[in-house]
Formats: sequence, C-alpha cells, structure tokens
Amino acid sequence: MAAARVYLDTKRTMASIDRNLFGSFLEHLGRAIYEGIYDPGSKFSDANGFRKDVMEEIRTLGVPIIRYPGGNFVSGYNWLDGVGPKQDRPRVLDKAWNSINSNQFGTNEFMSWCRAAGTTPLMGLNLGTGTPEQAAALVEYCNIEKGTQWSDLRRKHGIAEPYKVQHWCLGNEMDGPWQIGHMTATEYGLKAADAARQMRYVDRSLKLVACGSSGILMPTYLEWDREVLEQCYEYVDALSLHRYIGNTQEETGSNSAKYLAMNLTMDRQIAETAAVCDYVRGRKRSTKKLWLSFDEWNVWYRARSGDAVNGHAQEAPHLLEEVYNLEDALLVGGIINTLLRNAERVKLACLAQLVNVIAPIMTNATGLYRQTIYFPYMWALLMARGSVLNLQSECPVYEVAGIGEVPYLDVTGTWSKENGTVSLFILNRDLSNARQVQVIWEDAPPARVLMATVLTGSDLKAFNSFDSPKRVAPQDLAKPTTSGGRSTFEVPARSYTAIQWGA
Ligand code: AHR
Repeated sequence: MAAARVYLDTKRTMASIDRNLFGSFLEHLGRAIYEGIYDPGSKFSDANGFRKDVMEEIRTLGVPIIRYPGGNFVSGYNWLDGVGPKQDRPRVLDKAWNSINSNQFGTNEFMSWCRAAGTTPLMGLNLGTGTPEQAAALVEYCNIEKGTQWSDLRRKHGIAEPYKVQHWCLGNEMDGPWQIGHMTATEYGLKAADAARQMRYVDRSLKLVACGSSGILMPTYLEWDREVLEQCYEYVDALSLHRYIGNTQEETGSNSAKYLAMNLTMDRQIAETAAVCDYVRGRKRSTKKLWLSFDEWNVWYRARSGDAVNGHAQEAPHLLEEVYNLEDALLVGGIINTLLRNAERVKLACLAQLVNVIAPIMTNATGLYRQTIYFPYMWALLMARGSVLNLQSECPVYEVAGIGEVPYLDVTGTWSKENGTVSLFILNRDLSNARQVQVIWEDAPPARVLMATVLTGSDLKAFNSFDSPKRVAPQDLAKPTTSGGRSTFEVPARSYTAIQWGA
C-alpha cells in the first residue's frame, strides 16, 4: 500500500488559531454543575464547595472558555434566582429538563469557579421567557463597576470588582420547537437585535453571538439563519452552529466507516452557514464579516430520550450520561481536525459538554475518570497552537454514500512560530489497515520529535468506566524518523494520532 504524502511548509498557513476554538460547556443539566463541579458534601470539595479533583483536570487541560448556564436550561432561567444570600434563593423547577434547581450555584459562583479553574465565561442569556431588559441587567450586574442599580446589587452581594465578561450568547437554539419561548426567525432576530442594542448601551465592548440553526436536519436550516440575520446582522458579531452526531441506523446505517467520515459533513455545515452570513452581509452592504461560534458539538445519540432527558423533578438527576467508546473518540478527533481547518471563520467552539453530561469527565462520590473523548480534546488543547497549516495531502480515498470520496487519512497541522513547534493530528479511518505516512518538509525539517501518541484499539466499541478507567487510553507511537527532508511513520488502523516536532 502506497504511503500517504503530506507536504508541509511552515510559511504556508491558513489562519491563526483563536484559543477559544477549544472551549467547552457546563449547563445546569443533570449532574454537570451539582455533583460535577460543585458538591459541597464531597470529600473532594474545597470551602466553596468546588470539586478540587475536577477543577484540577480542567485547569490542567487549559480549557480557555466555558459556556454557561445553558443550553435549553437558559431559556427558562431567571438569573436573579441564582444571586444573593444562598439561604434566600428559591428552589425552582427547570422545565427544560424537568429538574429541581436549588440555585445554590449561580452567576457569582460560576465566575469565581472560572477564576479558580483558569478559564473564562461565555455567558448564555435567556431570550425565551427572558426579556432584553433582563439580559441588559445581567450585563450591568456583571460588567459595570458601580453606581447603577444592578452593579450596586452585585456589590451588595459582596463582589466589588466587575467581571468584565466579554462573550455572550443571545439565547439558545431558538429555532427548536423544544425550546422554551421558541419563536419564528423574524421574531427572534428582532428580539436579539433589541437585546444586543440594550446590552451595548451598558458595555460597548461585548462580543455577541446570535442563535443560528441548531442542526442541519432542522426544516428551517439556513433559512432561519438568513431571516435572523436580516434583523440583527448589524448588532451582533457572530452566529452560532450546533451539531451532535451519532452512529445510528438513520444517520450512518450504524456503519463505522461512514461514522468516521461524518466530521466532513461539519466542514460542509460551516461552509453553508458562512455563505448565509456573507449573503446577508452583501445584501446589507455591510463592512462587517461575522465569525462563527460552533458553541455546541459532540457525539450524542444514546442518552437522548426517555429517562435520560427527564429529571422527574429531582435535584442532580443522571441525565445525558452518554458512555463514549473508541470510535466516538476517533470521530471527536476528526471533528477537531474540521474545526482547525475552518479556524479562519470559526473563532469559538464548545465541546458540549464538560462534566457528567455528554462529557469527557465523569464523577461520582469516589472520584472521576476520563472518557475516551477526553484524549483528542486534550491533545488539541495541548498541541494545536499558533497557526493552522495549509497542508497538501495525497491519500487514497473510499466512497461513502451521501458524502462522496473520503480520504482514509484526515490530516491537519499547526505551526507555532512562538514555540517553534509543528503538530500533526491524523485520523486513520481505515478500519483494517495501518497506513504509512510520509511528511515532506518543504522548508527546514525539525530537529526532534517532542511527542508521538495515538488512540487506537482492536475494539471500536471499547469504553472506559469507573471499574476500567484505562481500557481506552493513549499509547506511545513509534517515533517518526527524519532524513533527507522527509519524516516517515505508520499510523495504526482505527486510530487518532498526535505528533509534535520541535526545533
Ligand atoms: O447540550 C445538551 C443540549 O443540547 C442543550 O441544552 C441544547 O442546547 C442542545 O439541544
């Protein structure tokens, strides 16, 4: 079998990588907040009730930005319920997930947790039952120093310094009939414009994300985006995309070869959504180019109905506790490649979610473990730095119904001038064969391999659990050898590989 060739020149780059491309998401949903990051009764928690073991994982990962408090939850949330003295906060029935929210964790707890975890907030606003006035009030509560109604309320709550939150989502999935306060695109576009205008009176520096389509199967896909932007283009900075993929009969015919190609349909989703943004831009003769916020993406198809999405009016119910296997992790690696090669347009993206709910990190009373999808995400955070390389690859392809010709290897690379490092991320979709790779260095070849690691295994359906936390774990890859300006190595069948070279 001929080796795949990758032509690499560090002078040939496509985009600089915004660190926010590898953000994540924590919703008031199931055990993400309560029992996930906040668990005052746990032996692992600090004086604030923050789980120290979970915090350490997130801090070490270096997650740059975290979306909060939802998700579907946010569309019925009154942020005032979650601030002020804890004993006065109401216990509220969250109607998105039919769960009880004790409100013991709210905006101030999240801000203080973010600081401790070394991350920044991407705040979601309620544009379902909430009003633009309430949205602007939350901005004032968070971002104004003092001397106004809401900033003074924050100070009364014991927080003198404003948080200066930059990034805000104007509602969540408002195109979905399941969404509390669901409305038409034009109604939402007008509401988003009104909220954005009021919020910018409070703080001109905000970065605002309007709700785009919540998935490519929505009957209003793209048409929603166009109609929304017709109303609010001038008031926002970005448009959101969401996507969950599953290896189901309907989506892939439960065929793993197709499943591992599904990230390519996200490349297409990004291109289509960007095209709509640019169409509206053209119609409006606007000088502003919107960026995209892929603020929910993941594999999710098992824990998606019945008791997995119904909290039965309990606190911290076990919801959306998807168990991820090896093939899910390989696809997550592929999605990371998709995000990287679209980094010119996608400036922010969130792996949905982070703890216990469709998550890489799972907790219980005795500790935590890392699901399979943790590892590609970790490598992206660790090694995808600087700029995305415009690689030229030559690789055999296979045919996938509904997608077309799919290369066996999905390769992306990054170059950090600052660190002098080149990283490659390679998904091998070939379920049976290892594949040889030859990297042709078109400028100076690097001096040494800093890291060569791979996620693979004989069983695509293998998963981790509290009992077997390391069944699927990274292995060392035989280090690439370099001579005559070429590096050669082999990637195993069914694998996702990360290699980093240094000067
Ligand atoms: O992430 C889980 C849910 O998926 C979110 O609450 C919602 O926005 C999406 O449908």
